[in-house]
Amino acid sequence: MTDQYAVIGNPIAQSKSPEIHRAFAQQTGQDMNYTKLLAPIDQFKEEVKKFFSSGGKGLNITVPFKLQAWQLAQVRSDRAELAGSANTLLVGREGRLYADNTDGIGLARDILRNQQGTVTGKKILILGAGGAVRGVLSNLLAEKPKQLVIANRTLSKATQLADLFSKKNPIRAIGYDQLTRQQFDWVINGTAASLQNELPPLPGGILRANAWCYDMMYGAQDTVFMQWAKEQGAAKVMDGLGMLVEQAAEAFFIWRHVRPQTQPVIEQIRGQLV
Ligand code: ATR
Repeated sequence: MTDQYAVIGNPIAQSKSPEIHRAFAQQTGQDMNYTKLLAPIDQFKEEVKKFFSSGGKGLNITVPFKLQAWQLAQVRSDRAELAGSANTLLVGREGRLYADNTDGIGLARDILRNQQGTVTGKKILILGAGGAVRGVLSNLLAEKPKQLVIANRTLSKATQLADLFSKKNPIRAIGYDQLTRQQFDWVINGTAASLQNELPPLPGGILRANAWCYDMMYGAQDTVFMQWAKEQGAAKVMDGLGMLVEQAAEAFFIWRHVRPQTQPVIEQIRGQLV
């Protein structure tokens, strides 16, 4: 029987996950079906239960349910534990709900493997202090940057996040107004600003020569952050489509124990963006 998978969120119409997983399934010859599920805002738990009790094999979780998915799980991977949110669910052999988070590995694979970038020994600025940023911090820190600075409008949120990871890592929090007179090798935008066509309040002159800029959002056109990065002379400017496909590939591997090739799927989805 064909195995059932889905992505659950609210809204969900915009999700590219079905196209990505269908392409992976076709490429690897896996007998699976992957759909979109719109959960009412207050019905996430019920929808998850319904899905698994009717034989569903695995779920991806998107906005705004990643925290609830993490809370609902009976077992969590170490990386989900650190991320404080979950984007992948499955029911284990013993019938317990298992949560993972593949966003951080998705970003790391896109930066390190697809883009051939280096984070080790570099000074990184990450913008935002919400769930998206928390989800990727441990993977970035594992690459041993020289320093990781989190900037956020609400400084207290950045400070809380930095405190979570600061025991073993060179990480600190600042407000945007403290950014002048500093320069970075990397600027990674993990805010939701691009969704509203907005740019975080960044001063000019914060990019080192050869700096790379990455927006975790993506679209057919450059985001405002990407436009800013080009104007500031960044050596390379990337969007988050590669991260999206890589996080999906890791979820696919967790469910099917097969690693799909991501490059052709990144190109396919890029070609379909409008
Ligand atoms: P997510 O789970 O996508 O990270 P979130 O937890 O709501 O969503 O976090 C959104 C992040 O984007 C926050 O860091 C938010 O800043 P505040 O904590 O100060 O609210 C940031 N953000 C959203 N819109 C922004 C904008 N226009 N400029 C700068 N930061 C913005």
